[in-house]
Amino acid sequence: MSDVSKSIKFYSGEDIPLELHKVRIVQKLHLVPVERRLEALYEAGFNTFRLDTKDVFLDMLTDSGTNAMSDRQLGAMMIADDAYAGSQSFVRYQKAVEDVLGKKYLLPVHQGRAAENIISNAYVRKGSVVPMNYHFTTAMAHITQYGGRIEELLYDEAYVIRSRHPFKGNMNLEKLEECIKKHGASNIPFIRMEASTNLIGGQPFSIENLRAVHAIAGKYGIRLVLDASLLGENAWLVKQREEEFKNKSMGEIILEMTGMADLIYFSARKLSSSRGGGICTNNEKIFKELEPLVPLFEGFLTYGGMSVREIEAIAVGLYETLDEGMICQSPQFIEYLVNALDSKGVPVVTPAGVLGCHIDAMNICSHIPQTQYPAGAFAAAFYLISGVRGMERGSVSNQRDEYGNETYADMELLRLAIPRRVFTLSQIKYVEDRILWLYENRHLIGGLKFIYEPPVLRFFMGGLEPVDDWAQKLLAKFREDFGDSL
Ligand code: F0G
Repeated sequence: MSDVSKSIKFYSGEDIPLELHKVRIVQKLHLVPVERRLEALYEAGFNTFRLDTKDVFLDMLTDSGTNAMSDRQLGAMMIADDAYAGSQSFVRYQKAVEDVLGKKYLLPVHQGRAAENIISNAYVRKGSVVPMNYHFTTAMAHITQYGGRIEELLYDEAYVIRSRHPFKGNMNLEKLEECIKKHGASNIPFIRMEASTNLIGGQPFSIENLRAVHAIAGKYGIRLVLDASLLGENAWLVKQREEEFKNKSMGEIILEMTGMADLIYFSARKLSSSRGGGICTNNEKIFKELEPLVPLFEGFLTYGGMSVREIEAIAVGLYETLDEGMICQSPQFIEYLVNALDSKGVPVVTPAGVLGCHIDAMNICSHIPQTQYPAGAFAAAFYLISGVRGMERGSVSNQRDEYGNETYADMELLRLAIPRRVFTLSQIKYVEDRILWLYENRHLIGGLKFIYEPPVLRFFMGGLEPVDDWAQKLLAKFREDFGDSL
């Protein structure tokens, strides 16, 4: 548990996270009956991305654009400066980026993948290789779109689901050197480090590791790009887990990390709990290389496809990332759920990371072959029996190779996102309860097959169906055990 919650002990000795905010605006939720949830699944092609929120009880699809905003953010949105060019909202955004991330040149973009498009457009060519700790779906799609390919260079420990390694997002330094020697620095436009590596369970890298990556990048004259979308939580976990930083402030830790990157980009839907995105650097040459692409793809250089209200919310949200009482909330609720499930034998990614609780569907659904998408099936089954929408992070989220063959994911995970300050502890306990029931009834879950497969980023809009009538059988068991409960 974190320093913040350690200072608030329960007399009972219970170890639970405590909300360090009060709720002042609420949104009503509905839990539709399980029969309706089965219909909704068929309508959505057994793909939780395609569910309507009217059919969703707890939306744990993502933290992207769903983190709770603060009263200060909402207040700032009311004083936004509407102007096509030279908006003062953008000046405030620049100042926040300089203060919090330590970079003086800022290019606004409408979200994280827009930054990936611009950076890939500028630097990736046919034959380019981009080494990274691990891919993110949209980062990989843009790099391959411009003719490049990626190499994922994690340590073996990163793929161990149940682990105690504090920094599974670390880049494998030996493999990085080998990769550079093999392909030649001139074919490597940049090295990409992703903070709180999303697809392996929101796992952080250490500053010690980043320092070593930075040294290697410097030695070969290769740009170091930091995907800072989940930087705040990575910094928080550095403070918890890396001895050298336990007495440092969030601001100091963040600047230590960003100071090593030549180029930073982020989804402000995550970092800063708002919308939009940004690219920033202190390198004028890099800035000049990327600058012309913003008006081409995004919009004028002082709004980049965002509304000025979003820009104000980002500026305030960046400063709030420095607040330990805010940034600790999501990781602590995740830690609670991970530990609760782990202690009852449900296989989850450990240690608890950021963004959400990641459940090992490959293990739970070991009776479903990877060709029938165990994580997709588990995500659909969990929605059916709980109304909770998670996200498949497995082979459905992978893209086919250049010859059109399936590439199976290293891990088949159901991600239950826990956005910042959105859910209460009793809601998390409901999730725990329903996961335990599904775990006990896991043999009833069956596989899925594609009936509609888009060529790019297929997981967003793809349609699947169950290979047999397992969903009906699961529903019948739910009714048997829960009676007329929703
Ligand atoms: N990088 C990382 C590490 C991300 O997690 C995301 C988005 C992006 C880039 C792309 O940013 O969505 O603003 O275009 N992650 C979301 C998720 C979609 O649900 O994990 P975007």
